[in-house]
Amino acid sequence: MIYAVANQKGGVGKTTSTVNIAAALALMGNRVLLVDADPQANATSGVLGGERPGPGARTMADVLLDGVPVASACMRTTVPGLDLVPASGDLAGAAVELVEREGREGLMRAALAAPAAEYGFVLVDCPPSLDLVTINALVAADRLIVPVQCEYYALEGLSRLMETIGEVRARLNPALGISGLLMTMHDPRTRISGEVVAEVRTHFPGLVFEAVVPRNVRVTESPSYGEPVVRYDPQCAAAAAYMQVAREVVERG
Ligand SMILES: Nc1ncnc2c1ncn2[C@@H]1O[C@H](COP(=O)(O)OP(=O)(O)OP(=O)(O)O)[C@@H](O)[C@H]1O
Ligand SMILES: [Mg+2]
Repeated sequence: MIYAVANQKGGVGKTTSTVNIAAALALMGNRVLLVDADPQANATSGVLGGERPGPGARTMADVLLDGVPVASACMRTTVPGLDLVPASGDLAGAAVELVEREGREGLMRAALAAPAAEYGFVLVDCPPSLDLVTINALVAADRLIVPVQCEYYALEGLSRLMETIGEVRARLNPALGISGLLMTMHDPRTRISGEVVAEVRTHFPGLVFEAVVPRNVRVTESPSYGEPVVRYDPQCAAAAAYMQVAREVVERG
């Protein structure tokens, strides 16, 4: 099953959620592939324990632009069972370069067909835009996970994302489902956080994961160690929430 983790709004917790749900699924005993489709490459640096892809390493840019097989770009991570297709800054021009290509929306789908048969779960971390790379991820995906930050403007942009999902379903990937909306960076001390969770649940009944990820300092520390928080501090509240989200992802099918 292929999951795209997308929301064109920046900084809502896409990368943190992709990395931690992927790591949690691996810790539960699954074979998991994390695909970094964002030129910022934060998912890449978040699972390599301070290492970096070597100078000759193949990346998602080579996969999308040059048809390099995912298997030749695949790397081990610090989490047993979790492999990575790294990103690099080279991906920054990809969305524009792809415009000229034949079958431009279906390149990631084709590239991920073989790995999807090999891995129980493939998770794609998308960039903060609805560009052609994100469209490729939506076309490749069976399911979508949408991180939503618990803040006042949470719903802003979601209708545009839902419209895009509708267009992708109509034209390119009728099977695209929504695994869930994931409320992130919840702060129980502020009233607004609770209100936003309630508002999003009302707006999207049944679509929001039960587990809510709290704002937690351990989440901000873990990337500097190149570790998902579920490994860096498995006891912290955010790690527990991500383990719960992973169980819900499995249950929702
Ligand atoms: N639960 C949390 N508690 C504390 N900080 C968090 C939490 N989740 C995410 N953050 C922080 O918020 C920032 C944005 O998170 P993240 O990079 O996951 O978002 P993103 O949606 O991938 O961003 P972009 O749109 O730039 O790709 C990061 O600095 C991250 O460490
Ligand atoms: Mg990100």
